[in-house]
Amino acid sequence: MTATELQQRDWAALEQQYYQGTFKRHPITLVRGQGTRVWDSTGKEYIDFVAGIAVNVLGHCHPAVIQAVQEQVTQLVHVSNLYYNVRQIELAEQLASLSGGMRSFFSNSGAEANEGAIKLARKYGRLHRNGAYEIISMDRSFHGRTLATTAATGQAAYQASWAPLPDGFKQVPFNDLDAVKQATSEKTAAILVEAVQGEGGIWPSSPEFLQGLRQWCDEQNLVLICDEVQAGAGRTGKYFSWEHYDITPDIVTMAKGLAGGVPIGGMLTGKRTDIFAYGDHGTTFGGNPIACAAGVATIKTIKEQNLLENATKMGEYWHQKLETLCAKYSNIIDSPRGIGLMRAVNVKHDLAGEIAGRAMQQGLLLNALGGSTLRMIPPLVLTKTDLDEAATILDHTLSEVATLPQAQ
Ligand SMILES: Cc1ncc(COP(=O)(O)O)c(C=O)c1O
Repeated sequence: MTATELQQRDWAALEQQYYQGTFKRHPITLVRGQGTRVWDSTGKEYIDFVAGIAVNVLGHCHPAVIQAVQEQVTQLVHVSNLYYNVRQIELAEQLASLSGGMRSFFSNSGAEANEGAIKLARKYGRLHRNGAYEIISMDRSFHGRTLATTAATGQAAYQASWAPLPDGFKQVPFNDLDAVKQATSEKTAAILVEAVQGEGGIWPSSPEFLQGLRQWCDEQNLVLICDEVQAGAGRTGKYFSWEHYDITPDIVTMAKGLAGGVPIGGMLTGKRTDIFAYGDHGTTFGGNPIACAAGVATIKTIKEQNLLENATKMGEYWHQKLETLCAKYSNIIDSPRGIGLMRAVNVKHDLAGEIAGRAMQQGLLLNALGGSTLRMIPPLVLTKTDLDEAATILDHTLSEVATLPQAQ
């Protein structure tokens, strides 16, 4: 489509006519991306600190992903899971080497990966814990939009309209090991946790909590599921965020960054819970050759370009910038936090949306989680120059917001 054609059509109006209104859109239409930058339909450039919500780990249109996808579409776009699939096995092999030998099952999204994990945990409970089926998850967690993953999500706002939700889910306060222990009963099969909570506002687990959960699961014969959909694929500076805690979960779920922007979900399991048998689970598209080829290319690039190290270094550099900005605008933002390139600050006076909107006008895409949190989850390929530029824009935005009556 030419630039003129892109500008001639009113995309917002067309969307209203043809697309269901489930998303609160920002008033721009993104049409192109390259590295850490995206461009809208008017040609305006933005630094992308949203990255498809923690998806584009290699940035936009990385040559390795392009090449892998281009080669694959000329060979085989789709093949049924009735047959062996080279790319699927290659990706599973890569993930096994990163996870200490776990075996994979691929789906199409994070919610679907968690559905698989829930089924697997229920099977474990049926076989090895007298029919236990209940899953304990955490307040403020997010696990997806299907009915079961909505029931597992510890945020009332996502659950309120969909009663009755599937039975067998219970939430307890995050980072509270005693609460988990008290909630455990003969019905409990598994504990589901994000090592670093994402949608809930970028809250890392305490080491005592995650290590305590591992020990509790071992003592009680429970399944420990880590939802790595957002924090995985290198975002925190380790390929899996649970690696920061010196534990290994029984089941790991993935999606988002796994294939560098091509849709995929993954459910990995260690030996103890590797109990799915023929017919227990399935999918038409999951493990599709294009997604898996992109996944292999993404993991190889993360390794070859030392992107885990870059995520750690750039994350620390960004944290310093955030600390400086929090000190300068202490009436608006505080509590800089996070690991690697998974960062956030608290925003006072419900101004997170206002800041994200104004930063966007100045060329920086940020994500407001409600009114009180700004989330930053940029590509792992970004440089100090990107961060300096982003910090200048954020500084300018905050100086404007500081003058608003709401900020006083
Ligand atoms: C931790 C976590 N789990 C699961 C999901 C759901 O993933 P998807 O939107 O791919 O279904 C998300 C999405 O934001 C997530 O952050």
